[in-house]
Amino acid sequence: MRNACQFNAQLMDFVRPQVVAGTKTSAIDKIVFEYTRDHGHTPACLGYPGESRPFPKSCCISVNDVICHGIPGRYELLPGDIVNVDLTTIVNQWHGDQSETFLIGDAGQIHQEARDVTQCAFDSLYLAIDAISPECTVSVIGETIVDYVSANYGFGIVDKYVGHGIGVKFHQRPNIPHVPTRQSRQERLYPGMCFTIEPMINAGTSRSVSDPKDGWTVRTFDRKVSAQFEHTILMTEEGPEIMTLTQNGPQRGHQF
Ligand code: MF3
Ligand code: CO
Ligand code: CO
Repeated sequence: MRNACQFNAQLMDFVRPQVVAGTKTSAIDKIVFEYTRDHGHTPACLGYPGESRPFPKSCCISVNDVICHGIPGRYELLPGDIVNVDLTTIVNQWHGDQSETFLIGDAGQIHQEARDVTQCAFDSLYLAIDAISPECTVSVIGETIVDYVSANYGFGIVDKYVGHGIGVKFHQRPNIPHVPTRQSRQERLYPGMCFTIEPMINAGTSRSVSDPKDGWTVRTFDRKVSAQFEHTILMTEEGPEIMTLTQNGPQRGHQF
């Protein structure tokens, strides 16, 4: 897990400089595919089974009103876009999974709402990491995020898509919802468990619609913007350890 997560973070550092205005999302995907392959590893998203069809690309790129599972393609990034790049690599059968949201363009080209939703998603991730401890219930994550977002923003917290246990399987038990649920109040985070925390925060409604044509792209129902950050976490006897820390990405406390 350590090798998989460290490689995935290194890939994020490699890709980050390319997430700029004028780049096609398919060009970012190509970089992900080639860098992963050239290091002898496998992009977990490529061919990953879905409800209707396998995912066709090597990463998810979700622009503006796309919440998650955006398919890289002909779209060229524009100043003012808010874009999430979600990378998952299989290294010796183990999975590392993480995502970052990028604000494209100069300060003057970025809408305050896009900045706020990005800050809110980033802070939600770190507050949740700081709130969990060995043997705590999974619901601590959702409780922390709901309290923070409702007190400070009033944004929509996506409940249909969740974090997850991770290991030799990409998605495994337990589900890690970003709002408390009956199940998450009954499950615990024991030392030795690896899981993701990946809050998706919408400027408006938490309601989403999945694209019937491609079977993957998930958009906000009201077409307002959405942001997400994700880390893979190991719970140790001493507390959570972030496995997917990057060299050059936004660090704890970052202000967007
Ligand atoms: N990386 C996503 C997650 O955080 C899952 C993407 S599945 C794919 O769980 F098939 F869409 F790539
Ligand atoms: Co992911
Ligand atoms: Co994930």
